[in-house]
Amino acid sequence: MATPSNDAVTSDPPRTSSEPAATSGPGPLPVLSPADTARLLGTALGPIIAQGVIARRPRVVALAGRLGTDDAAVRLLQQLRARYGDGPVRVPLPGRPFALVLDGDGVRRVLTEGPEPFAPASWEKRGALGHFQPHGVLVSHGDARAERRRFTETVLDTGTPLHTDAAHIAAVARAETDAMRDIAARTGVLSWDDFVRSWWRTVRRIVLGPQARDDHDLTDTLTRLRGRGNWSFLAPRRDQLRERFAAGVRRHLDQAAPGSLAARIAAQDPGTGITPEDQVGHWLFAWDPGAAVTFRALALLATHPQVRGRARAEIAEGAQDGPPELPVLRAAVLESTRLWPTTPLLLRESTRATRWPGGDLAAGTSVLVPAWFLHRDDTRRSDADTLDVDQWLDGSATDDWMLTPFSGGHGVCPARELVLFVASTVLATLLDGHHTVLLPPESFDPSAPLPRGLNPYAMRFGVSRAATMP
Ligand code: HEM
Repeated sequence: MATPSNDAVTSDPPRTSSEPAATSGPGPLPVLSPADTARLLGTALGPIIAQGVIARRPRVVALAGRLGTDDAAVRLLQQLRARYGDGPVRVPLPGRPFALVLDGDGVRRVLTEGPEPFAPASWEKRGALGHFQPHGVLVSHGDARAERRRFTETVLDTGTPLHTDAAHIAAVARAETDAMRDIAARTGVLSWDDFVRSWWRTVRRIVLGPQARDDHDLTDTLTRLRGRGNWSFLAPRRDQLRERFAAGVRRHLDQAAPGSLAARIAAQDPGTGITPEDQVGHWLFAWDPGAAVTFRALALLATHPQVRGRARAEIAEGAQDGPPELPVLRAAVLESTRLWPTTPLLLRESTRATRWPGGDLAAGTSVLVPAWFLHRDDTRRSDADTLDVDQWLDGSATDDWMLTPFSGGHGVCPARELVLFVASTVLATLLDGHHTVLLPPESFDPSAPLPRGLNPYAMRFGVSRAATMP
């Protein structure tokens, strides 16, 4: 597979300042004071970035949990919105214009009006993701983005609850999870390390085929590249390391194992600008938050017997043909992404000036959607800190632009359905053990409002062979 010889296709989104005319608008948007900018950086953005935006740093995540930074960040954003309004609010950072969007209408506008004037391929993302997927769809613009998005949607079956290869995918997820559950039942404990080992085996088999099951080196190499991505443009590119990863992906793709996404890729016309190894680089990277989301959903199920009972009922019901869709479990996974979003900040870059009720936003501004705050804003959502699977089952959460765990609009996560399917199948396999009891992890008190931070790396579930639990 050829790598495009130049990066013209992923160059900066073009900018014009033709609309609206600078002098004709209602004036400039509100601007954070220097003191509030410092608080935003120190209390909210700093801790989020320190935890690792591209590859989580487990020790910093644990420290953030002890310090309660997620709580403090939500409270700060509530104060800022009370003072400056719903946004956009400009954040006067030196050298780089930023703006915060703080309500559902603003989020809808920024996510649906694109790729122009609000381009997903922001400068920050190009710096971070360029370490391992310089031609990924998320950092592409213009025709290249359109072509890569089309390719991605075709392979991932975007928008379809059951992927074309759902039967195969479910069989892989069940086999790997069964093996993990049996070991956990013997030792009495299910830890993050056990879970994530099984998760990656599942993922490599689904994406690349059975021969990739134990290719830990491939995902470890990607983790190293992602670690550099945390530093964005500050870390020099490691071309050799990236080539080692890309060559490993290509080796597996060449085998096009039946039932795997690699086989779906082989069936596509790769086009000259696709660079499948970069697209796969993003996919493998994105399965990682999927593990955290699933493990946290397991904590929700372990601590909420009523929802667990509904999940067990749908598992028992099964499906007439093929694998079941498991809507309650999917909704539990969605709640996990709402409560603890794995993309805490959605970023868009304005390619031209835009007019808002409060003023004009300049071209070249990085627009931040603070999903972690909007999902947990208990001044606007009375159920912000409780488990509510029904809002996903009745569609009200999906229609709410305050809730964007998978983004929305033209850049919505193209794997939303696929990852929900895999996560819910894994959870169903864990719950389906007739003799398996999942005990709540010690750190989690379901009678209190759900914590705004939940460190998955520290969670351990007790697993026993007792006979009954609803
Ligand atoms: C629970 C797991 C996941 C969550 C919460 C999630 C969430 C998201 C979010 C919020 C975005 C938008 C990012 C932005 O606008 O800056 C996104 C984009 C994307 N995701 Fe996911 N994702 C998940 C798993 C996956 C998986 C497993 C894959 C691939 C198999 C994937 C593929 C992509 C791609 C290709 C994009 C870029 C789309 C574009 O720019 O058009 N995601 N995802």
